[in-house]
This record gives sequence, C-alpha cells and structure tokens, in this order.
Amino acid sequence: MSKKILLSGVQPTGTLHIGNYFGAIRQFVDLQDKYDTRIFIADFHAITTVQDKELLSRNIYDIVCDYLALGLDPEKIVLFQQSKIPEVAELTWYFNCLTTVPYLERAHAYKDKVANGKEPSVGLFDYPILMASDILIQDAHVVPVGQDQKQHIEFARDIAEKFNRVYGETFRLPEPLIMDTVAIVPGTDGRKMSKSYGNTIPLFATEEEIKKAVMSIPTDSRGKDEVKNPDDLVLYQIHKLFNDTPEIRAGYTQGLGYKDAKEMLIADINAWIAPLREKRAEIAADRNMVLGVLEYGAQQARTIVEEKMKEVREKIGLIL
Ligand code: ADP
Ligand code: TRP
Repeated sequence: MSKKILLSGVQPTGTLHIGNYFGAIRQFVDLQDKYDTRIFIADFHAITTVQDKELLSRNIYDIVCDYLALGLDPEKIVLFQQSKIPEVAELTWYFNCLTTVPYLERAHAYKDKVANGKEPSVGLFDYPILMASDILIQDAHVVPVGQDQKQHIEFARDIAEKFNRVYGETFRLPEPLIMDTVAIVPGTDGRKMSKSYGNTIPLFATEEEIKKAVMSIPTDSRGKDEVKNPDDLVLYQIHKLFNDTPEIRAGYTQGLGYKDAKEMLIADINAWIAPLREKRAEIAADRNMVLGVLEYGAQQARTIVEEKMKEVREKIGLIL
C-alpha cells in the first residue's frame, strides 16, 4: 500500500523559534518515514507581511538551511518553495470564485490581525484560500500544524467540499494533525511564543541569546525552598521541552529557587542547541548545495501538481 500524503508549510517570515520546532517542525522530522512527506516554504503567504526583497530572499534561504539542519531529508521528502508552483495561485483564483466574503470573515487569524489595528490587504484576507490550495492541490491526507492553524484546515475541507459539489468529485478532504502535548509553547512573557510578540527563544540561538531570553522570563517573589507547582510556571513549561526527567520536575516541587532553575534551563537549552547551531552553519556555507535541494524539490512538486490541475481546468470548463 502506498504511504499517505503529509503536507505542511512554514512561512519564511523570520528566525525560527522553539515554538515552531516543538509545535510543528519536529513532527515533520518524526513523520518523514511514515508518510509521503511534502514540506514547503510558504513564500507566497509571507508576502502578506514581508515586502522587502533582500529580507524575503534571505529568509527563504535561511529557512531551508534550518530545515536541513533539523533533519529533514530531501532524499526522502519533497522539500520545495511554494512560489515555484504558480499553479497554487491559479487554483486560489478558482477557489476565490467559490468562496463568499462572509465565510472568509470568520477566520480567527484574520480577525485577530484586524482587531490589533491592521488594515488588511486583499492578500491577507485571502490567506486561508491560498493555504487551502497548497493542501488540496497535492491531495494531502494529513496536515501537521499547531493548534492555531486548525481552523485553516477546516476551511480547506469546506472549500474542497464546495468544489466537489459544484464541479464533481475532485479533491480529497485533509485531516489536521495536532500534537496535543505541546499544543502551545509559551514565550518568555507567558503568552504564546510568537515572533510577532518578540518573546521567542530562537532555535539556533547563541549561548548569549539563550541567556538573555531565559533571564527575561518573569517569576514571582517566592524564594528558594518555597514549594512551587511546576505546572503553573512558564519556566517549567519551557524547561520540560528540553529536559523532562522527573528530577527537574521534583526540583520545583521541592523548592528549587528561580535563579538556579534559570541556570539549569540555560544549560539544558544550550546543550540541545549547540550541535544544531554547528550543523546549520556548515549547511548555510554551502550555497550551491542548498539551491540544488530547492531546484530538485521544485521539479518534483511541479510533476506532482500537473495532473490535478489539468483535471481542475477541465472540470471548470476551460479546456475546449
Ligand atoms: P509565529 O507565531 O512566531 O509567527 P508562525 O505563525 O509562523 O509562528 O507558525 C509556524 C508554525 O509553528 C505553525 O505551524 C504554528 O502553529 C507553529 N507555532 C508557532 N508558534 C507556536 C507555539 N508557541 N507553540 C506551538 N506551535 C507554534
Ligand atoms: N499558515 C501556516 C502557518 O502560518 C503556513 C502554511 C501555509 C501552511 N500553507 C500551508 C501550513 C499549508 C500547512 C499547510 O503556520
């Protein structure tokens, strides 16, 4: 039996943080043997926020290096840049014409941005449809994402159903794959870790950066020897990602002081990050190899979507 198709993307909109890793990328790495895995760099999506040429192209390059350093294997999976498959933009147009404005206005991510005072572009509004196109064009079975992206997968399912109803059975309905244990990684201020909040611990951070981030995690006035419930502490929520041995947990319940806890956390994060940091530096220095990986991935992805798009154009009535 052939493997099920797993597809996901991450926007190249800045430095990856540990929330991205534990919430998303780790799953891709763990699942790449079990599934027919396709991972892409969502550069079309990124243009909704990054409109600086140098910055965007640097971000794209950086994220490929990040993925390779984290263990995605381009020999096993299809690793590609979204914009190398212009058919997703074409499919987005067809879906646009089937989707109503009030329906899209229900998107949480969109509503949040507007509530935060952002004047939305048409592209931002259309973001979920572009995402549906990414998923449906490849007939993905499963889409691993963080909790915050779940609604977007539901949108993709609705759009697939609508297309199938109007034009006949064409698209598979995808399932989200949410890792519940680390559903949301908190940032250094206790809110969801997010680059837009500036509360991140970067994934390839230097020791100095790790120190600075950990030191900024707020604690309360309880001193050493006072008992703390680890589950209430941001410090422990982060610590358990890097070291989930019972000793660490027991430390907090037995009155570990915040200063000592932070020092242990810095050491544990650094021990985890240091080898990744080195590997990433080696990869990034080999530009020809990195560009070769992207070119190979683009060829594979183009071949994958060709037939589906022929079928779509045919069903819509564009082929005479
Ligand atoms: P950010 O919030 O920093 O902008 P993105 O929205 O680019 O991050 O998220 C990229 C991927 O990482 C998504 O799949 C998202 O669900 C996941 N992710 C981001 N932040 C977290 C977090 N704090 N906890 C768990 N998963 C996260
Ligand atoms: N919206 C996703 C995020 O911010 C990125 C993304 C774009 C994606 N297209 C996708 C994820 C398709 C999964 C499948 O995390």
